[in-house]
Amino acid sequence: MKKVLFLTGAGISAESGIRTFRDGNGLWHEHNIMEVCSDIGFMTNRTKVLNFYDDRRADLADKIPNAAHQMIADLQREFPKSIVNITQNVDDLFEKAGCKKTIHLHGELTKIQCESCGYIKSIGYDAIGDHSICPFCKKEEMRHFVVMFGEQAPEYETLAQMLEETKLLVVIGTSGEVLPVDDFAGEVPYAILNNLEPSDAIEEECFSLVIHKKATEACHEIAQTVRSFLQTEQTKVEQ
Ligand code: APR
Repeated sequence: MKKVLFLTGAGISAESGIRTFRDGNGLWHEHNIMEVCSDIGFMTNRTKVLNFYDDRRADLADKIPNAAHQMIADLQREFPKSIVNITQNVDDLFEKAGCKKTIHLHGELTKIQCESCGYIKSIGYDAIGDHSICPFCKKEEMRHFVVMFGEQAPEYETLAQMLEETKLLVVIGTSGEVLPVDDFAGEVPYAILNNLEPSDAIEEECFSLVIHKKATEACHEIAQTVRSFLQTEQTKVEQ
């Protein structure tokens, strides 16, 4: 069964009103990454970091998925065994769109984790202060379930495994500053890139198709390409 892997970044959620990191009004133009998104920053000022993630979690409450999230959810329903959805995003818009089994490489804002026993708890859009005691070990060491710079991202191993069986990679809305998406494109037979504009961190020649459009405009062309890609596979199997 052919595998199509969607690998997304902040750009896919931009039109839902969630800020990206490195675009014009991106989060990293307003906040110092090392202070609010690094292991050292967390050790230096725990409260500042927990407040930063409280604000981003609360911001999610009224955000709704856009046509690009919906496109992936629809394709997953049509081709349940072929579509793999992996994201760098920590928002819950894929879940709100009805996606099943989204792999969050950098964690999830709606969850918190106990630093002592590892217990993970879903808290929706609440502030972490309302859930500071671990329900399991009773220690007061709950933190945001988000991978910060300087920390391990265990799901990167899953991404590497999934890429081995991927026939079509679809990259949407990432600058490639953290994940070498052009290297990944070089590892698979076909790869599509959809961003607003070229990124210094991405060699676009590695991709079979590059679309410089908003994700909500590109998603119709992407869906069509994925459907015909998978349907050729299905007809081959049926012959
Ligand atoms: N449609 C499509 N692409 C878009 C849109 C849009 N409406 N808006 C922005 N983009 C693209 C930009 O062209 C850019 O390439 O999304 C990308 C956003 O890049 P970043 O802000 O760097 O976000 P991302 O690549 O997801 O960052 C990766 O960095 O700070 C860490 O952990 C954080 O997961 C994040 C990682």
